[in-house]
Amino acid sequence: MKLKIHSPYLAAVFCFAATAVSFSTETPEAKPFGKTKEGVPVEVFTLVNKQGVRLRAITYGATVVSLETPDRNGKNADIVLGYKTLGQYEKSSPYFGAIVGRYGNRIAGGKFTLEGKEYKLAENNGGPGLKSSLHGGLRGFDKVVWRAEALAQEGAQGVRFSYLSKDGEEGYPGNLEAKVTYWLDDQNEWRVDYEMTSDKATPVNLTQHSYFNLKGEGKGDILGHELTLPASKFTPVNAAMIPTGELRPVAGGPLDFNKPTAIGARIQAEDEQLRLGGGYDHNFVLRRPLFAGLLGGRMHPAATVREPLTGRFLTILTSEPGIQFYSGNFLDGTLTGKAGASYPKRSGFCLETQHYPDSPNQPAFPSTILKPGKVWKSTTVFLFGAK
Ligand code: GLA
Repeated sequence: MKLKIHSPYLAAVFCFAATAVSFSTETPEAKPFGKTKEGVPVEVFTLVNKQGVRLRAITYGATVVSLETPDRNGKNADIVLGYKTLGQYEKSSPYFGAIVGRYGNRIAGGKFTLEGKEYKLAENNGGPGLKSSLHGGLRGFDKVVWRAEALAQEGAQGVRFSYLSKDGEEGYPGNLEAKVTYWLDDQNEWRVDYEMTSDKATPVNLTQHSYFNLKGEGKGDILGHELTLPASKFTPVNAAMIPTGELRPVAGGPLDFNKPTAIGARIQAEDEQLRLGGGYDHNFVLRRPLFAGLLGGRMHPAATVREPLTGRFLTILTSEPGIQFYSGNFLDGTLTGKAGASYPKRSGFCLETQHYPDSPNQPAFPSTILKPGKVWKSTTVFLFGAK
């Protein structure tokens, strides 16, 4: 999927060649996935590859509703948490599989000042005195119906979701056109490309909020999964889960995942940050190649997770400077998943590639401001395998 075809002539030549040597260039299948409460039809796109991986994504929230991958014996399981029906996603979902935005993660006090003007957002998270705006507000990008276009390239199927977030939506400035493209290729790479433009300066921070369980969704907790996070620092939080501004070394503490370590190994440790997060719910500062900012778009390793029983592993690469590792602490057994099993505490984990939380209020953090006339681009790759 390294190939991008821009010229129609080249595309025609390529299609001919592809047919001749029988590459799969078929676009993914689209089917109805019910209607929202307001009666808007939602579709599901099924992306498949030669290795038996199958990814299904719906136009509601650009949500990945299932992802089947083989274990070391070739046996498929669905490794993301989610629901069977659209109604369940609409009723109550902790962002299962969705794209969150316009600003993923928290903004302190639900406000920020940009170009001399204060903007007020929904305070949809935190208790009294600890309020913040989380994941784009009351009706973030996870709760809207996106437009969709099926795509195909040599050895890869894709779907491009687009959404126009109007000026003032959820309190944010500017008409923001967001495009999120999912590609699944024959090398077991699930690629997520983000592209945004706006007619006014606005903060942006989109991320993919899949909950993984590499044993299979509904198959117990994720505490035995071994995680590697190439990060020497993280952004510690206060009681409102807002970064204090410090970049604190992880060395020696329970947030040090530079060597592969089971998620559960130190999750109960006496540690102020683990107490505040109710487990892991922290943004890690990723080690980036020198001049990464200048080169733009260049990807660096973000995380690797290995599940010893099934042999499944997941490697994440990203162009983003940070990653939120969330160990599913708020899952409490009240939600029932696709196969009918409930989702207890820590039965899924999220690795959300992103800019740091609360960046609009923290001038020392890498900027999340998209200016008019500019194109915001970001890429994250999830690579699957088993051994
Ligand atoms: C993010 C947040 C968590 C939680 C989950 C969804 O990871 O940081 O605190 O809100 O999303 O429940």
